[in-house]
Order: sequence, then structure tokens, then C-alpha cells
Amino acid sequence: MCGIIGCIGRGSDTLDTLVHGLEKLEYRGYDSAGVGLLDTEIVVCKAAGEISELRKKLEGQSIAGRAGIGHTRWSTHGPPTDANAHPHSDCTGEVVVVHNGIIENYQELRDELEAKGHTFTSDTDTEVVAHLMEERITEGESPERAFRGTVQRLEGSYAIAALVEGEEGLFAARNDSPLVVGLGDGADLDGDGGQFFLASDVPAFRDFTDRVIYLEDGEFARLDGGLKVTTSEGELVSKAVHTVEWDAEETGKSGYDHFMLKEIHEQPRALRQCLRGRVEEQTATVDIGDIADLNPSGVQFVACGTSYHAAMYGAQLIRNAGVPAQAFLASEYATAPPPLQDDLVVGISQSGETADTLSALREASGRGGETFTLTNTVGSTMDRECDHTLFIYSGPEIGVAATKTFAGQLTALNLLSLATVESGRQRRAVVPALRELPGDVQRILDSSSAEEVAEYYEGSRSYFFIGRGYQYPVALEGALKLKEISYEHAEGFAAGELKHGPLALVDEDTPVFAMVVGDGEEASKTVGNIKEVEARGAPVVVVTDGQSDAERYADHVLEIPESHPRTAAVLGNVQLQLVAYHIANRLGRSIDKPRNLAKSVTVE
Ligand code: F6R
Repeated sequence: MCGIIGCIGRGSDTLDTLVHGLEKLEYRGYDSAGVGLLDTEIVVCKAAGEISELRKKLEGQSIAGRAGIGHTRWSTHGPPTDANAHPHSDCTGEVVVVHNGIIENYQELRDELEAKGHTFTSDTDTEVVAHLMEERITEGESPERAFRGTVQRLEGSYAIAALVEGEEGLFAARNDSPLVVGLGDGADLDGDGGQFFLASDVPAFRDFTDRVIYLEDGEFARLDGGLKVTTSEGELVSKAVHTVEWDAEETGKSGYDHFMLKEIHEQPRALRQCLRGRVEEQTATVDIGDIADLNPSGVQFVACGTSYHAAMYGAQLIRNAGVPAQAFLASEYATAPPPLQDDLVVGISQSGETADTLSALREASGRGGETFTLTNTVGSTMDRECDHTLFIYSGPEIGVAATKTFAGQLTALNLLSLATVESGRQRRAVVPALRELPGDVQRILDSSSAEEVAEYYEGSRSYFFIGRGYQYPVALEGALKLKEISYEHAEGFAAGELKHGPLALVDEDTPVFAMVVGDGEEASKTVGNIKEVEARGAPVVVVTDGQSDAERYADHVLEIPESHPRTAAVLGNVQLQLVAYHIANRLGRSIDKPRNLAKSVTVE
């Protein structure tokens, strides 16, 4: 996720403060960085790659500034290059901006600005902000009015900071993307002067102050040696000053003990980001651009680990729409490559770099296949090499165990399936459930009893997970999550498969987690399987929306809101993520960096 830092009142330390802030934001993940400093002129310096690359560019330059802004970029529009790094400038270089989030209507705004003669130098959505401000300032508006007017034209999510030449201080606004002001030495709300900071996240300035003001959606701030917060209509808003009690190390995790837990809790936001501008509930339409024109006669999914579980789910979606589809473990794909005909070969990968998945995609492409990647990482090798890309927009994931990106993959697979192979009737059934999904996940996070369940079963000999249909890949994922972070033995099974062998392992020391959704045939068959394990003395934890009578046979229940069976898979998985997390935490495991595992596996 991108990061923003800004400051005023730091005198000759302005540049150092910005770079220090960028380093503190590194944990969010980024692929380029830059700074803009306001003195008599605005000077911008930016570089693709790590902050050390930016430092190299800054070396030997004496860049002073009364105020400044800085940014770490996680690519969404255009690959990670110097030109696409923030800050972005207008045609004159007198307005510079940094931005987190996604501006949905940027193409329309860019077309309008280009028609008026503006020249763009990047592929980003952000650059329209600088040119829109330039347009208004040229028409005679004050920079403050121009900033407010510009922001009101933006659709989507944003945290924005801007500098304007000749103007004291910096401007900021937010919608659906966090922005916080820090009050440093000599700064207070009624005073004039002192040090002020602005950031997407407190760690960026935590070393300088613990006094913060959280900006809300729709608020505008001007930091110019004092602080003015207004509504979009320009009315003053009085703000409370909070004291942050976390130290700088903890703030990287926003108060969570682990990145994994933070990322589990980020899922509502990640899903909103994935769905934003892509689903329209009233008309039940799904808009994923040109990808919707694909009309595959079959789909072959290739992926590894958690992404393979998403692939299994995706293959079911496509098959249920009447189009042949199969999920392959990427590492096995080339050993007996399936005939291609006019199939689309879809590589699912959070990182977009996994060697096994890349190799399977290259193998298919070498045979003339049309390739597609569903990934979280703009500019990744898969994004560059595949014929088509669909981004999941989950934001960077720091914990080695995939959590929010699995939710993003399942959600994006629904978009892919609905837009390419499913009917209007199916869209009308699923789009409302997708719209509800972020809120439903939030309800689980707010009420889950997974921690008590973890406490009760911690120390069991083995943990089994069962599910049918869309819940089967979730059972596999629940087991993978638990084993990889707790180092305990866990297995996932298709619920109907237990009696064909694994039932021999079941006893009172093997809790069975059963996913039961709806009250149809699948649910009643899974309830039958629950009875089989119960009869062998196994404790049963049911993850359910309460529509069947599964709870009657359960020792513990983890509830999920009623939803469509497809979205219920995302919901049930949240409960299993929490169980895995709490068991591993109780066992004192290295949750964010489990032994022997890496976030990106670039060897076959
Ligand atoms: C498990 C996990 C791994 C990855 C796998 C593929 O929590 O994260 O199983 O899913 O290594 O990685 P990507 O999705 O980057 O291709």
C-alpha cells in the first residue's frame, strides 16, 4: 500500500524528516519512492526501487524546503518506474501531489485535460490531480479553492497531499484512505507556528511526536504553520487531539501484535478496494474492462499453495456456468500438459512472481495458449508477460501467510466468472452478495469466538477440516493456514471423502472443523459426515450460517452471516484464519515469518 509523509516547520531538517518518514513506511510494501520540497520553487526527486535508490539520487544535492511531501508507491496504474513514482506535477511544475488509493474516473478526467492541452508524463491516475489544480489556478482560483474543487471532482478512494509554489504550507484531503496530522514541537491547534506532520500512518512521524489528529472522510486540511481543517464546503471543523501510546515499532502493525492479524482485519477494506467501480448493484452489472470480451471455450487455472485453493474455487465457478474448467498445481502442469484448444490459461498469484506458476504460464504460452493472470502485484513478471491481467487490489501483504489476498482472489474470481461466462440471472443473484461482503466480513471480525475455540482445542494431535462444493477449497485453505503458522498437523478433505480412508485417523483428539452453508443437499450431506466423525468421538466445530441443523451436532459453532454460497466461502475462511492465528499465537510461533517459508517462492 502506498504511504504518505508531509511536514512543515522542520527548517533545515525537512528533507531528512521526509526520507526518515518514508523509511518508517517501508513495512507497508512499495516499489518506488519520492519527495517534493517547497522553497522559492518546488523541487521533486523520485526513483523506482528501494528508498536507497532515492537516497542515491538525493546525494550531493542541497535541497532545502520550508515544507515537503514524500511518498512510497505500490503500483496500481502503470509499472514501477521513475516516471510513475510520486510526487506528480502539473505542466508547469508549480503544483505537485502525492496520493494513496485509486481514482476511478481518472481516465475521463485525463481525456478532458488532454483535450485542453495538458501534457501527462506518467501512466498514473494521480497525475490528473495536479493538472486539475493547475487548470483552476490558471482560471484565477486561489490554491486552496482549486484544491478543494479538484478533490470534489474525484471518484474513488484517496488520501492526497499537495504543494503549490508561492503558497505557504501543504494541502490535504481524504476519502476512504487514512490520513493523520501530527502536532510536533511548538504546534498546537490555536497557535501559529511549530512543527506539523501529515502521514497516511502514524509510524511515519512517530519519532517526532505522539500528538495526533485523525482526519475523516470528506475533510480538508491546510498545514501552514497552523492547522485548519474544513468540510468540503469550507466550514471549519474542530478536531480533537489524541495521544498515541504505541511506540514506533508497534505502530507499523497499527497496534496489532502481528501483521497477519492486521491483514486479517484489513479484509473489509481490501474487498471494498477489489470491488470498487467494478460492480453495480442496481443493474447487477460487473465491469472489469476489456476482459469481459474474452469468451473462452475452457479455462485452465495454474497456481500454488493458497492461490491453488483459489484456483479450485475459480474452476468450480466456471464449470457451474457450463464452461469446462480445471485447476492444476502449477508445479505439476508441465508434466502432462492438457490440450489447449481455445482454453484460457489463468495463473493465480499474489506475488505474480512464483516460479512454478510462471513456468506453467510460459509453457502454455509457448504452445500458443492465451494467458491471463489474476494477481496483487502491478508490474510483476506475470503482469508483464501474460496477455491479460486482473488485479485484486488487496494492498501489500507482509505476513508470509496469505490472508487478505486469498479473500481478494475469491472475490476477483467471482468478477471474472460473472463478467465472462455467467448469465444476467447469476449476476443478479451474486452481485448483491458481493456488495455485502466487506460488511459481512467486518461483522465476523467484530464478533468471532475463534479465540475461545483456539484456546479449547490447542494441543490436539491433529486438526481436520471438511467442506463440499465452494467450501471444499476453504477446508483445504483452513488446514494449510493452521499448519504453516502453528507447525501443528492439519489436513483438509472433501467432506464426502473422509469415509474413504481418513476416517481411520479420527478420534477424540482430532477436532473436525466442518463448513456448512445453506440448507440444501450439500449442507445435509455434510451434516451426515459430521455425524460420522461424531460417532467416532471426534469433537466438531461447525462454521455455519445457521440455516441447517448442523449446530445440533457441534461442540462449538463459529457463525457467519447468511450469504450466497460463493461469498460464504470468503466468510467461513475468515473464521478459520482467526482459529489458525490464535492457535499459533498461543503456541508462541513466529507467525509473520513461519520457519522454512518465504513470501515469494522464486525457485521451482
Ligand atoms: C500460504 C501461502 C503460499 C502461497 C504460494 C503461492 O499462506 O502464502 O501457499 O499462496 O506460495 O504464492 P503466490 O500467490 O504469490 O503465487
